[in-house]
Amino acid sequence: MTGRIPEDTIREIRERSDIVEVVSSYLPLKRSGANHQGLCPFHGEKTPSFNVNATRQIFHCFGCGVGGNVFSFLMRMEGLTFPEAVRRLGERVGISIEEETLSPAEQQRREDHERLTRVNEVACDFYHQVLLDDKEGAAGRRYLRERGYDGETARIFRLGFAPGRWEALAEHLAQKGFDPRWARELGLIRPGKDGRGDYDLFRNRLLFPILDLHDKVVAFGGRVLDDSLPKYINSSESPIYHKGRILYGLARAREEMRRSDEVIVVEGYFDQLALHRAGFANAVATCGTALTDEHGRLLQRYAKKVLLLFDQDNAGRKATFRAMEVLLPLGLSVAVVGLDAGEDPDSFLRKAGTEAFIGRLREAQPVIEVYMDAVLTAHGDGIEGRARAAEEIMARLRLVPSEIERSLYLQSLARRTGLDPGLLQQRIARSVPVPAVQSPRSAPQPPVPQRRSAPVMSKEVKAQELLLRLMLEDDGIRAEVAVEGVASLFFDPDRQAIADQLLDRARDGEKFAESELFDRLNEEQKAIFSGILVKDEKAFAEERQRIVQDCRQTVLKETLKRRVRDLDEQIRRAEQSGDLQQLAACQIERLNVCRELKK
Ligand code: GTP
Ligand code: MN
Repeated sequence: MTGRIPEDTIREIRERSDIVEVVSSYLPLKRSGANHQGLCPFHGEKTPSFNVNATRQIFHCFGCGVGGNVFSFLMRMEGLTFPEAVRRLGERVGISIEEETLSPAEQQRREDHERLTRVNEVACDFYHQVLLDDKEGAAGRRYLRERGYDGETARIFRLGFAPGRWEALAEHLAQKGFDPRWARELGLIRPGKDGRGDYDLFRNRLLFPILDLHDKVVAFGGRVLDDSLPKYINSSESPIYHKGRILYGLARAREEMRRSDEVIVVEGYFDQLALHRAGFANAVATCGTALTDEHGRLLQRYAKKVLLLFDQDNAGRKATFRAMEVLLPLGLSVAVVGLDAGEDPDSFLRKAGTEAFIGRLREAQPVIEVYMDAVLTAHGDGIEGRARAAEEIMARLRLVPSEIERSLYLQSLARRTGLDPGLLQQRIARSVPVPAVQSPRSAPQPPVPQRRSAPVMSKEVKAQELLLRLMLEDDGIRAEVAVEGVASLFFDPDRQAIADQLLDRARDGEKFAESELFDRLNEEQKAIFSGILVKDEKAFAEERQRIVQDCRQTVLKETLKRRVRDLDEQIRRAEQSGDLQQLAACQIERLNVCRELKK
């Protein structure tokens, strides 16, 4: 969905919107001095450290460090790409960017999507009405009731029932004047043979509409009412439905996911229904597909902890470990909820009740522990078995990005196998954990904010930030930085990048909004810059030259330090090769550099 949006349009949208108003639509804000404050929506907290500054049109959280402008806020909050955030805000402030920006091909694609979605919506309404009060829906109503669900659930989830006739939907759509090609593309109807008309895919099935994040129907899953096979059939994949990118119930669950920072992942439609009804609104279902990277990133947008609740059989176990491999590299904390063999959440809740279920959630075990149990058991107690199991387990431990966690698991592994913890540590250190691969197709997601302890800022960093602040306010300083060069005043690459942007934007003394800069910064830089802006410290005129001088010094010092490190390396090599002349030269230079550093 990315036509190029003209800079002017982006600016206009930014100028017409108010970050305080936008943020307030998600969380309550209270005025406090120059800022508005609230509880940070991006990490759990009890005292507000989330600041919104109306003058500068930026936000910054002192708790987790994230920050940015109104677009960055929407991107993070709604999991949008930049152009999507611009569009969303454009709609809000009444600036349309559709027509002028789309290429004809893109325009076509959108129209197709809209038509496909429209057909699904009409089909959904049709099936829903049949289930609620058509005589053809009696069997569906009975089935649902027998499983303990009433009309209320049917309405909330927009459940439907497909009549047993071959052409119920095909006829309905024709009556409404839809070209059959769209319903065919969705797999809802299929062309009949020998000159007969189109026939329906879903017949005599209870239907679960699958919604995307905009609450639009993109597909259906349909269950038979008896034991015949296949138990479920689904809409075919289509331009609006890719099963690897959709989680059943996510649109409904995301709010609670964000609030609790947890998600419960189950396998089936009915499990999701059961959990929601029992008050676990943060449940989503994979619906028979293996968890993909894209699923993982969807979950990551809204929660940090994933509770896997798959079937207690071999297939479920396999799905659990496959999910582990997807989720751990994303830095998510993953735990496994155990039920008794043969139970799924739907049946468990019905039999044992909500309290018992909460107990099971509380007893959830870290997935790695469960994996260790499984692998150690599978390989048996022999020496060879334990060694092989340890190797296998370590391959998975490498997926855990946090060094501390990894080391705790290693200790546990050492205990359980009787292997030397030092040896295990060594072996795992040999291969660096694989960083999470970003698939180019998905929206670039800002990393999950790392919870930081109160920022300890070195004198050097502080000087650089003060200089950035000065650059915002003072044309003279900006000119000075431009002449001297960003690289000789800023040592740290992120702060260097911010300074570059400031110079770029402020060229020709043109007026610019600070919040504009954010669209050109990466996440780390956004966090730094919003932190600077939100603090509103004043630098006094007499301090200016000292600040510039401090920055200059830092760069010099860091350059010298790097030279020392280089020389140390050269000295080591000269010693090895016995090159005495080189060795002497390096040592002399090192002495000189160190003397300079002392100054
Ligand atoms: P109930 O048996 O009615 O409680 O449904 P369930 O959702 O618990 O089914 P199950 O645990 O057997 O399967 C979990 C999920 O896998 C289902 O919700 C479906 O999404 C999917 N699934 C199960 N069987 C089939 C099938 O035959 N075909 C397809 N395409 N998907 C299936
Ligand atoms: Mn079930």
